[in-house]
Amino acid sequence: MDFNPLPKDVISAKARRTTEPPIAWLMRMPFDDPQIISLAAGFVDQESLPAEEVAECVHEILAVEKNRSALQYGTSQGFFPLRQEVSRILERQGAGKSVSPDEILLTAGSQQILHLVTDVLINEGDIVLVEDPTYFVYMGTLQAAGARVIGVPVDDEGILPEALEDKIRFLERSAGLENLKLVYLMTYFQNPTGACTAWHRKERLLEILRNHCDLGRTTFIIEDAAYKELRFEGGEIPYLKALDRDNSSVVLTGSFSKSFSPGLRVGFGYLPRPLLEHVLRQKGNEDFGSSNFCQHIVRQAIITGRYAKHVEMLKAKYRAKRDLMLECLARYFPHEVEVIRPLGGLYLWASLPRGLNTGARGQLFREATQKKVLYVPGELCYCEEPGIEKPTNNLRISFGMVTEDNIVEGMARLGEAVSQVLR
Ligand SMILES: Cc1ncc(COP(=O)(O)O)c(C=O)c1O
Repeated sequence: MDFNPLPKDVISAKARRTTEPPIAWLMRMPFDDPQIISLAAGFVDQESLPAEEVAECVHEILAVEKNRSALQYGTSQGFFPLRQEVSRILERQGAGKSVSPDEILLTAGSQQILHLVTDVLINEGDIVLVEDPTYFVYMGTLQAAGARVIGVPVDDEGILPEALEDKIRFLERSAGLENLKLVYLMTYFQNPTGACTAWHRKERLLEILRNHCDLGRTTFIIEDAAYKELRFEGGEIPYLKALDRDNSSVVLTGSFSKSFSPGLRVGFGYLPRPLLEHVLRQKGNEDFGSSNFCQHIVRQAIITGRYAKHVEMLKAKYRAKRDLMLECLARYFPHEVEVIRPLGGLYLWASLPRGLNTGARGQLFREATQKKVLYVPGELCYCEEPGIEKPTNNLRISFGMVTEDNIVEGMARLGEAVSQVLR
């Protein structure tokens, strides 16, 4: 957005490092021109948002139970009965044998935990290893914190262990390993590639990190499982957190945004206790508790079975939308285009022949915007590292918010744009 920035010496160092999110302009475009079909937005399906379920939960909390405390401030750590529910869910899903509600934190979306953990651990110049490509919003958080972000390549089974070991050895040689504070992984239906981290990879990468780093003291792992509930195909893969038996090294983050309602914005984390204590102090200063009312609503949805039912319905919905998008890809796109077939989540990651540029200044993006269809240029999801050239031939498209009709129309337009550029 055009604005007159304040003088550099007036704003903080952090504010100086904080640039406009790379896709803010992309997200604004459909609002400026409603004819545009956005396959770029990572929003959830609008039609299936749980309006009736939330209305019933609110009625039960306020009218039936007359629970005024739901409208009072809550605590920094979050509504205890919801923390109990989250502990039970995580135990059932095998995140740990006995997950204490005292080790659970509730936040305004899991984004807030990413932010708080970063605030607690990262000084300017500290190192964070991320999957490459990775979640661009978190890259912004890291950039603002002054972190040095190093990417580790991924494939359709998640991060490549050999590449991780190479990067770590490089840090050892360059005396940077003691500054490695975080390894950030999205282990389920990664944003943007849609890939899950295979179990054997989780075992191997933890082994590598344990061998080389002081895990749980100077280096922590974030396992971001924001999309975990949205598996519509294939068998479950246990959490990486399951390998952190003493809850010392892995911060597991999860969310009710994708599986229920991002408008309620309730996220959770299962954190090593010492780290949790620091995070709670930070959160005490920041907001001394996220929305208590929203936490009551989510808990009500869980204990009445509405949440589980909703998740089942969503899986069928997204599976159908993914299938439709893949069908359209086969029908409208040149056969050279490759895609990772996601077994859950909201995204398709497509690769065009090498040399073809999907970037915002490239011909494909121009053609696509002329045809009024948007995608996320893959280059925005790779971290910038001096001297390392990143692929420029990928794009992220989402079947989350877009309607079925617009999937067909949007994919036809985008396929035509790709064909034109290839010709
Ligand atoms: C990988 C990933 N992590 C975390 C989040 C944050 O979600 P929320 O803060 O709504 O829980 C998102 C949102 O899109 C995401 O894609």
